[in-house]
Amino acid sequence: MFIHDNISANDKNHLVMGGCDLCYLADKYKTPLYVMDEEKVRDNMRAYKNAIEDYYNSNGMVLYASKALSNLYMYKIAKEEGIGVDVVSGGELYTALKAGFDASKIYFHGNNKTYDEIELGIKSKIACFVADSINELDMIDRISGENNTVTNVMFRIKPGVDAHTHEFIATGQIDSKFGFAIENNEAYEIIKYAKNLKNIMVVGIHCHIGSQIFELEPFCEAARIMIKFMTKVKNELGVNIKRLNLGGGFGIKYVKEDTPVVYPKYIEAVSKVLKEECEKEGVDLPYVLMEPGRSVVGDAGVTLYTVGSIKEIKDVRKYVSVDGGMGDNPRYILYEAEYDAAVANRADAKEEEVVTVCGKCCESGDIIMKDAKLPKLKSGDILCVMSTGAYNYSMSSNYNRICRPAMVFVSGGKEKLAVKRETYEDLIRNDLM
Ligand code: LLP
Repeated sequence: MFIHDNISANDKNHLVMGGCDLCYLADKYKTPLYVMDEEKVRDNMRAYKNAIEDYYNSNGMVLYASKALSNLYMYKIAKEEGIGVDVVSGGELYTALKAGFDASKIYFHGNNKTYDEIELGIKSKIACFVADSINELDMIDRISGENNTVTNVMFRIKPGVDAHTHEFIATGQIDSKFGFAIENNEAYEIIKYAKNLKNIMVVGIHCHIGSQIFELEPFCEAARIMIKFMTKVKNELGVNIKRLNLGGGFGIKYVKEDTPVVYPKYIEAVSKVLKEECEKEGVDLPYVLMEPGRSVVGDAGVTLYTVGSIKEIKDVRKYVSVDGGMGDNPRYILYEAEYDAAVANRADAKEEEVVTVCGKCCESGDIIMKDAKLPKLKSGDILCVMSTGAYNYSMSSNYNRICRPAMVFVSGGKEKLAVKRETYEDLIRNDLM
């Protein structure tokens, strides 16, 4: 009945997730409220981890792309599940380290890492940097020298694959700010350059073709291109690429029509391609890394809102306002993203009208669901928007000085407050006058 089978209804006709009544949580923690199903997050991590064991004989590692949802509790879960993480900023790295995450399982991404970020990574002894430009590579080399160490580096490569996704989240093509392209030889040249740097150890190559991708073929195509490139680099430059990181990007179900691939199936298909290509090219199968973000946390999260004013503009549109909006979920205003929702206090309510669910920001694009078929909503209803676990909290803002919501993890009928709701005091914490 609901788009995700971890959501059900109880005898009060309330929505339930992780054994917890969502109306009870809304009442206790107030709204808007992010709620994460902890078991689902762990299951998603395990699905990837098991697939690496099954299809690569454990010769690889899952790195949770923590930009999707980063806080102490998430790194704690990733640590307990025995997977690695990718971070893209000093802030994510700091949070992971504060959660006690093992630095030797941390990979550092980003297209413009600063001196301080690189220094923090080197001093913390992270596993590897994924270098994105020559300036950065020189900086890693220099800071490594200053710290008398040699740093592992992978290179972000643009394989030139069309991922068929929103242009803002497509990254595998030559016209992208990320990485080095194969087609104009940049990728080859940077490795040639790096191999002579004293404080750099070239350990691998990386690609990430985009996000929210539903097709298998672009991933297989990227894998084929990366193995060919690896072979060329080995044969012509004598550089043995031991690690291959194929990025993230696997789509999740936001609305009923979405049909994501089953992730282990993707790993199976790509592993087949890798094995075939390596055999054809006569190179060893590399250690394989992958970086799922959205597909680890996206479908495990919901956001609870309280419905406020309802405005029906005759023959135009009906607006239903909720007590959050683009501050806690900017994905409509950024990508015109679509969502599905249900009413937490009337779980069996049938979808009967088309409305636009909007937020409370001073912005016309502040929309959560445009022209969505929903039950007839009343002021005071608790609207449960599905699949908000990824890129909601992590992209949230205080626009209009609205406090960020709290985040609760639920599991086995128990809840754990993982992020407190912001207060007005928090809003002025760094203000001076
Ligand atoms: N690895 C790299 C290098 C990435 O840039 C990303 C996402 C990932 C892994 C994880 O990709 P995922 O499995 O989550 O698709 N804010 C956008 C998504 C931006 C993705 C950025 N990079 C959204 O809300 O749709």
